Amino acid sequence: MTVPSLPYRIGYGEDAHRLAEGRPLVLGGVPIPHAERGAVAHSDGDAVLHAVADALLSGLALGDIGHYYPDTAPEHQGLDSRVILRDSLALVREWGYRPANVALVVTLDRPKLGPLRAEIARTVAGLLELPETEVGVSFKTSEGLAPDHVQVRVTVLLVRDGE
Ligand code: C5P
Ligand code: MG
Repeated sequence: MTVPSLPYRIGYGEDAHRLAEGRPLVLGGVPIPHAERGAVAHSDGDAVLHAVADALLSGLALGDIGHYYPDTAPEHQGLDSRVILRDSLALVREWGYRPANVALVVTLDRPKLGPLRAEIARTVAGLLELPETEVGVSFKTSEGLAPDHVQVRVTVLLVRDGE
């Protein structure tokens, strides 16, 4: 790949997981208490961290997390999504960029996540080594259109070193 030329790059990522009983729900590295259902996934199913990692990679056209961590590989069973995010961040840095701010939207009908907004922002910011004010966290219901899913969408601004 040729070296990216723009001083600022926008990344976008998405992830969705089906919800099922008997599984924990973890979003942005935060276990969600009182969640009746959790994410069905090959890894730990943290849709926020997956979408943030994909956003980081997409900003520099570095592919997506499935390219680096195929879900067909047995060694990725139960993989801690924080590892995926840290690796993606390291790759961004190797290319001479850093994330400046992140905006993420979680679509989930239940439970209400508002009380966990600050904790999720703090945790994601910590993983990205950003102040928590640089991570915006929004929640939406699907209005009953997707009651069996959690869906996350993320944008990130990447800034070239020296800018
Ligand atoms: O999707 P809707 O606009 O009806 O969501 C209303 C509000 O409920 C959102 O703005 C958000 O603050 C909150 N919410 C939440 N937890 C969810 C979904 C929505 O706190 N799981
Ligand atoms: Mg996922």
